[in-house]
Amino acid sequence: MTKAIVFDAYGTLFDVYSVGALAEQLFPGQGPALSVLWRDKQIEYSRLISLCDPLNPQGSRHYQSFWDITELALQYACERLKLELSATARQQLLAQYAQLQAFPENLAVLQTLKARGLPCAILSNGNPDMLHSAVKSAGMSAYLDHVISVEEVRQFKTTPQSYALVQQRFEVEKHEVLFVSSNGWDVLGATWFGFQTFWVNRQHLPFETLGPRPTFTGPDLTHVLQVLG
Ligand code: LAC
Repeated sequence: MTKAIVFDAYGTLFDVYSVGALAEQLFPGQGPALSVLWRDKQIEYSRLISLCDPLNPQGSRHYQSFWDITELALQYACERLKLELSATARQQLLAQYAQLQAFPENLAVLQTLKARGLPCAILSNGNPDMLHSAVKSAGMSAYLDHVISVEEVRQFKTTPQSYALVQQRFEVEKHEVLFVSSNGWDVLGATWFGFQTFWVNRQHLPFETLGPRPTFTGPDLTHVLQVLG
């Protein structure tokens, strides 16, 4: 039985590649490459930080907020692609990142879950400020019981400390949580942790070849409603 639905934020509720259109305007021909490299480097930095100091009780000593990592990753991606990032372009891209578009069906799915009385939350690598900005601009605040940031433990997903934050908010067993993410690595981390998982596979990608399969898979968030019955 599922007692709480927990969503990843970036890539799952909010479209991280929606910055590609602005990136394309600023750097014609390079928009898609920039948005992919920006995202990959952001995730790589989060892993590097957590892996280099996983057991420190106060969290990784190398911790920097996800927003800071996002800025550093943008800078790296531009340097790597040999793009001149002016102060204005940087500010425009980051402003858009602070208010990323939500995928079109997401708000209605959250509204339906709320109407059915199912507790919902976000668990994200994002720090509280950036999460609240994204949630507010997508109009989702009223439908989420908690917006949980890994900043509390200063370890990024996929560390067990980060997934364990869910049970500090909801009185549930691990298998009573349905964790929803479109990031394959995040789904795998959550499955290993002990959650039920739903992989939102919008791009029809193969799942990770490593580890167990997700409990459920579907092409968009509306399919979460179907598996809950
Ligand atoms: C999140 C990103 C990493 O945790 O997808 O929201």
